[in-house]
Amino acid sequence: EFMSEIKGLSVLEKQIKERLQVGNVIIVPGNSDKYEWVKQEMGKACIAFLKTIVKPESTIAVTGGTSMAAIADVMTPLNKKNSYLFVPARGGIGEKVENQANTIAAEMAKKAKGDYRLLYVPDPLSDSAYESIIEEPSINEILKQIKGSSIILHGIGDAITMAERRKTPESIIEILKTNKAVSEAFGYYFNAEGNVVHKVKTIGIHLEDLGSIEHVITVAGGKSKGQAIASYFKHGKSNLLITDEAAAEQILRDY
Ligand code: G3H
Repeated sequence: EFMSEIKGLSVLEKQIKERLQVGNVIIVPGNSDKYEWVKQEMGKACIAFLKTIVKPESTIAVTGGTSMAAIADVMTPLNKKNSYLFVPARGGIGEKVENQANTIAAEMAKKAKGDYRLLYVPDPLSDSAYESIIEEPSINEILKQIKGSSIILHGIGDAITMAERRKTPESIIEILKTNKAVSEAFGYYFNAEGNVVHKVKTIGIHLEDLGSIEHVITVAGGKSKGQAIASYFKHGKSNLLITDEAAAEQILRDY
């Protein structure tokens, strides 16, 4: 029975690869909307994959969210000899501290026996504050390390769920609804066609930086995220999607 389950998931992986046009897909059993441990299973799959791609001195950038936090929960040393640098991909974007990229980068580094650097910036930022903050030498230095990452781990959220969780002003939520935003990643909000309809101004990795990052790893699951995942993959760069069975079935059924 175990083997037939594995075989079933590999068929699903192949179908998702084709549907979303992504190079590599890993699907774990279950629905992470219902059970927290399914996120940890995605986390374990992510760590097993990371072990196959990390190089000495790799810099790994991470975004925020509960899926990223679950990876940190199950993080283990990636390699006995080398040390890795974990950095937050962006500023806080209004999340609770345990779901912020800074916290997650520090936690991953502790468990992986690596190093970390943090990014202390308020968010969202006004244009003038943004321009002056990126000139600060300490911010500029960490920003260079972030942009020089060779691996990035990121989540995808359902647009309105994320906007509400981040206490986004009602006026912006209205804009998201009017423009039919369905997904969010890196502080960008996308519609069903994968076009950016809004972005939160924060410091760190922007969409245009993804092209130069060797491994973009997306971790997102749960039946409720099917549409959000499909939307991000219309144009978003990703080399690997790690998801769960429930999200995969939802994508194949409706998107
Ligand atoms: O950017 C996407 C969100 O951070 C995803 O959050 O993993 O808690 O659903 P989540």
